[in-house]
Parts: sequence; C-alpha cells; structure tokens
Amino acid sequence: MKHFTHISDLGIDGVSRILDRAMEWKQHDPGAVFEGRLLGMLFFNPSLRTRVSFEAAMLRSGGHAIVIDVNSGSWKLEHASGIRMDGDRPEHIREAIPVLGGYVDALAVRCFAQGELEQDEADALIRSIASHSPIPVVSMESAREHPCQGLADMLTLREQFGALQGRRITLSWAPHIKPLPRAVPNSLVLSAAACGCHVTVAHPPGLELHAAVLQQAQELARQSGGEIATSHDQTAACADADVVYGKSWGPAEPSAFSGLATEHADWMIDMPLLQAGSQASHFMHCLPVRRNVVVSDAVLDSELSLVVPQAHNRLHVQRSLLHDIFNGDAT
Ligand code: CP
Repeated sequence: MKHFTHISDLGIDGVSRILDRAMEWKQHDPGAVFEGRLLGMLFFNPSLRTRVSFEAAMLRSGGHAIVIDVNSGSWKLEHASGIRMDGDRPEHIREAIPVLGGYVDALAVRCFAQGELEQDEADALIRSIASHSPIPVVSMESAREHPCQGLADMLTLREQFGALQGRRITLSWAPHIKPLPRAVPNSLVLSAAACGCHVTVAHPPGLELHAAVLQQAQELARQSGGEIATSHDQTAACADADVVYGKSWGPAEPSAFSGLATEHADWMIDMPLLQAGSQASHFMHCLPVRRNVVVSDAVLDSELSLVVPQAHNRLHVQRSLLHDIFNGDAT
C-alpha cells in the first residue's frame, strides 16, 4: 500500500510521470476515471485552494470527496502517544484513522507545522497517520512539505517555459507579519531539484532552510542535472532568474522573528527586483499572499505574475497523482 506524503515517495521518475499525465489530461479530459472512488479529506488547518482543487478533481472525474474538518463539525483528534486523554481532544488518531479507512479509498490530510524546527522536519503527525492507515494517505501539506504545491509549481513552469532542465528559479524569502511554516519553500526546492532546475535560495542571514532539506535537494539535483545554491543578496540572486518565487518563512528560533521581519522589510518583492536583469523575471507564489507586505500590487497585477494559473494547476497535478494512488502505482 502506497502513500504520497513527501516528494521522496515519487522520486525523479515519479515526478516526471505525474507531470506528463497532468499535461496530457489538461489538454484532453480523461472523463470519469475516478468513478466509484471516494476520497476522505482530513483538515487540521484551513484551506481554500487545496480543498476546492482536490474536491473538483474528484467530482470532475466521476468520484466523490468527503471533507472532515477536525476543528469544526468533527471530534478534535489527539495524536500524542501514551498520554491520558483528559484535555479537549476526545478521540485518538489510532482509532479515527483506521475507522476512516473503512469508509473511503484514500485519505488526504492537511496538518501544518507547529513552529519547532526539528519536530517539523521529522513530520511526526502525517507519518503517524500514514502508519495507522489501512488506505493510501496523500499530503495536502504537512509540517515538512506541501508536495502537491511543488508538483503544481513544476507544471506551471513547464507550461510557461517548456523543458525545465537548467531553468533558473530563485526562491526569495519575503517579509510577513508572522513566522510561517517551511513546507512550501521546502517543496519548491525539492520539486525543482527533481526536475533539473538551477535553484537559488535567497534569504537574510538567520533564515536558512533546514540542512536536511538542502542536502536532499542537492542529491536530487546531482541525479537530475540541476543545481542548488544559496545567497544573502536578493538583488543578485533574482537578476536574470526565469522565475522569482516569493515566500516567507520563519527562523529556526521563533522568538527571533520580529527583529528579522522588521530589519528585512525591504525584501518585499517589487517590480524593480523582477526587472533588474537583462530580461524581466516571472513571479510565483503559492497563495494566499498578503499584498504590499510580501509582494507589491504592481507585481501581482502584472503579466509577470503566474499565481492564478499556478493555483489552477493544483487540480491537474492532483488528478494525475490520485490516478496513481487509486491504482496503487505511487512509488
Ligand atoms: N496554496 C495552498 O495550499 O492554498 P490553501 O492553503 O488555500 O489550500
């Protein structure tokens, strides 16, 4: 039984297979390929795109999706082992996940990071859910990764530029009002590395991605012909990039956040940054995005912004992925 919770579950060949099928099916609708299939969607955190794109992928393909919102309309779920359950969580995942496994064919799960770097890197909650699940588990974003976002990002790049080999992507940290998780930047780097892109991660000192993620990306890049670099110079890193991918994330030590965000407010992405090189860079972001905090109105409202097609591509990569999941083909 196969799960898809991390890019490593697909590997380089799997990523390529999902993207190929997503492109093909986007051009030629495959019809009711999920007829009779049920997807459970377990949300520990809110969503707009992920919820609707997964539901739409199921419904448009003849299947059905059932949303379970852990914070309203369902029991709060405990996941810690060996504790006395006398708090506000009356049900444990050890029962809830096997129960759901008897109702649906696959279970998609969203469970965000808690802001503790080493625990988030270990990704204990989604790994625990997968270990208790009798059916395939698909990540809709966990502490470490948002792999479906990474796949949609690569599909968007393929549509925009064609072959991804050697494509120059700069992931630029951007300011925010609070320290955000690292799942999206992690998945962007890992997905782009798997596709042979030349990735530069630009951020102020103190905001390094986890060494294990960068090491994994380096290994993928070694196999795919890609490159991974880091920079503290936003302007140099963005000049001549094909795409500037804006995203905020928090420091390893959350208490360091407010000082860093204030000090580096000038990292907001604006037109002069995208136009610094010999040709303008496109802009990507996973959404939701705070206008004029992370990125300016001028960028989002320009033809350089790919954020809407990027969000639309969530549906297409997830339909392709779910085909593998329902047919037991995920590696
Ligand atoms: N990008 C993304 O996952 O959006 P949502 O949080 O709205 O699902």
